[in-house]
Amino acid sequence: MARFTDKVVVITGGAGGIGISAGQLFADEGAKVLLVDLDEQALGAAVDQIGSKQVSYCVADVTQAQQVQRYVDTAVERYGAIDCFLNNAGVEGVLKPITDYPEDVFDNVIDVNLKGVWLGLKYVMPAMAAGGGGSIVITSSVAGVNGGPGLSAYVASKHAVIGLMRTASNEGAGSNVRVNTVNPSPVDTRMMRALEEFAAPGAAELARKKFEAGIPLKRYAEPKDVANIMAFLCSDEASFCTGGVYMVDGGSTSSR
Ligand SMILES: NC(=O)c1ccc[n+]([C@@H]2O[C@H](COP(=O)([O-])OP(=O)(O)OC[C@H]3O[C@@H](n4cnc5c(N)ncnc54)[C@H](O)[C@@H]3O)[C@@H](O)[C@H]2O)c1
Repeated sequence: MARFTDKVVVITGGAGGIGISAGQLFADEGAKVLLVDLDEQALGAAVDQIGSKQVSYCVADVTQAQQVQRYVDTAVERYGAIDCFLNNAGVEGVLKPITDYPEDVFDNVIDVNLKGVWLGLKYVMPAMAAGGGGSIVITSSVAGVNGGPGLSAYVASKHAVIGLMRTASNEGAGSNVRVNTVNPSPVDTRMMRALEEFAAPGAAELARKKFEAGIPLKRYAEPKDVANIMAFLCSDEASFCTGGVYMVDGGSTSSR
């Protein structure tokens, strides 16, 4: 079933684990895909990995308004519209208590995970509305609904984007722009490698086992688990879904 024939999808964090998996899924289902990320080499490798002529890239830093405007313009000029937007780029920061958390790292996490998402909404929503509407999926996290020690900036940013989503879903409804969040528990990507190393320096595999033990389904999500719900939310099957928080967490948030 090709749900996205002739649809245009923009994915920030497009060279990362979830971004590539989503790019693959949307391309496989007929979409034209623009991957947006910081590093040109990584973007080129992501396009090669997906291996579809329907996929291209744009280098942009999501924290910079002019660069956000540029990826929006690139999508519209190259493909004619933006039908689906995965507002997905993110960074984890460090694992330290608030009292030891470096201020510059806090600022960077908020800049990428919150301001970057806000800028994406600010510039994509008018382009999407001009094309008759579409679907925006923001990647929040279980850290968007639960607290936990050591990740203050990340937890704050992932809670905050749920607020942005709720506002944007109201503001977009009149133009047929739907906005939702997906909220994964640990996903098997670079980001978890970094967090495992913070949690247990030199013993990342042990940290992984401990994280997995706390998840009722006893495993990390695969990037495809997240891509699948993103695709559902962007499809016509989700035409009545807006303003929602969609957990992809193996039961984590129901187990406390
Ligand atoms: N991996 C997990 O366990 C997990 C769990 C819940 C939510 N998430 C969220 O999923 C999203 C994707 O993460 P991932 O797991 O694919 O990690 P990842 O590190 O593989 O991918 C993140 C991508 O975002 C890009 N990025 C960072 N700063 C950017 C900037 N300023 N401008 C443009 N791109 C930038 C990175 O270069 C990277 O390619 C993030 O928002 C993350 O917070 C991840």
